[in-house]
Amino acid sequence: MAKVSTRFVCQACGAIAPRWAGKCEACGAWNTIVEEAGAAGPPRRLGGAGLTVAGLDGGATVPPRLPTTLAELDRGLGGGFVAGSAVLVGGDPGIGKSTLLLQAAARVAAAGRTVLYVSGEESVDQIQLRARRLGVQGVQLALAASTDLAAIKAHIGKGGGLDVLVIDSIQTMAVDTLDSAPGTVGQVRAAGFELIRLAKTRGFAVVLVGHVTKDGAVAGPRVLEHMVDAVLYFEGDRGHQFRILRGVKNRFGATDEIGVFEMTERGLAEVANPSALFLAERRGHVAGSAVFAGLEGSRPLLLEVQALLATGQGGTPRRAVVGWDAGRLAMLLAVLEARCGLRLGAHDIYLNVAGGLRITEPAADLAVAAALASAAANQPTRPDEVFFGEIGLSGEIRQVAQAEARLKEAAKLGFAAASLPRRVARGGGKLAAPEGLMLTEMGHLTELVGRFGA
Ligand code: TYD
Ligand code: MG
Repeated sequence: MAKVSTRFVCQACGAIAPRWAGKCEACGAWNTIVEEAGAAGPPRRLGGAGLTVAGLDGGATVPPRLPTTLAELDRGLGGGFVAGSAVLVGGDPGIGKSTLLLQAAARVAAAGRTVLYVSGEESVDQIQLRARRLGVQGVQLALAASTDLAAIKAHIGKGGGLDVLVIDSIQTMAVDTLDSAPGTVGQVRAAGFELIRLAKTRGFAVVLVGHVTKDGAVAGPRVLEHMVDAVLYFEGDRGHQFRILRGVKNRFGATDEIGVFEMTERGLAEVANPSALFLAERRGHVAGSAVFAGLEGSRPLLLEVQALLATGQGGTPRRAVVGWDAGRLAMLLAVLEARCGLRLGAHDIYLNVAGGLRITEPAADLAVAAALASAAANQPTRPDEVFFGEIGLSGEIRQVAQAEARLKEAAKLGFAAASLPRRVARGGGKLAAPEGLMLTEMGHLTELVGRFGA
């Protein structure tokens, strides 16, 4: 009889510890180590006998793509599902992963492909109800409610030329050779491994849905990230109606791409023009507001940055930042004070990226500085102006990537002016500014602050 081994596995990073401990030595997380019983790691059977080798030539055939025709999803996938590949779609519970994948699966099926959607979380009735709500009930799509990987494998083994398999979610799947509970790292890894291997040998695309906890520490699915070909995260703020699908890994296309969706009664609607959505509620002529011409992946995106200053009540002034980095704000405040003489230190400062999106680009510095200077002077920025540029510690305004794409997006949305870093002479080449857009190039932050006469 095979020896039953017991392992202690960190549920945050998948590291194996020799004994139980309160803290994982590998990732430093607390209380994440769980005892798991059963065979260690993925099944050891690694295909047949011998190793087949090939030269560098060949491989001219691009693996076929199955477009979902949901353009915002295809963008993240790099054109659609790839036959024989695996995609991990992660996100918080309730964010809309099941809805998105049922919509996508229905689109692929409607194009005449064979799609199997397996849910381990909902009954077939519930999925059918959702399909009716999404208006896709007429589509030929195979549904199953199961958490039994062996049964899924047996069904696929019957043949029938499967094109796409959706597993919702990988945490609910159980491999019967393992004793540990579904959702533990061992189970997730083993089930993921089996499904991915099946997809590669049979040539269908497998989509694994994974729940992610709020702090990004994925119990389980993280261990799949290196096994799959593409990783997409579905995110959004519960208080807002839009959702972002963010590509973080893609072996077949560009990463950092985002797809933008809006939640509706009838499912997710694609947002072809996200800048318009994020600026929809903006009111011009308000002090403390500036529009940032940002970039998400290869896609330009305009966002409103809002700053509010309040007189401090004594003691340590408050700094509340939503959608931006608090450390970056502290740096910017120091530069404004040291290089431009703008003293905001005693004020309570509230900074917000309207719409609930999070900006990570340093290019937002100039827009944040404009919002702060505008708030300090109680003088609005031009309502038809956008800002972008990184600010250095000496107050210099530094170049950022893709200025032209940003300007083009601003012009498209009817903006008439842009403040941006001064171009350094580097082999000449004129910036192709869209017609009708007035450019103000800046070398130093004082040029911006001086405008507000604060
Ligand atoms: P669901 O797709 O079940 O989220 P997840 O699979 O990530 O846990 O969506 C959660 C709830 O939100 C569900 O009750 C349906 C609802 N919903 C809509 O009504 N419209 C939408 O566009 C989306 C995405 C969800
Ligand atoms: Mg779900």
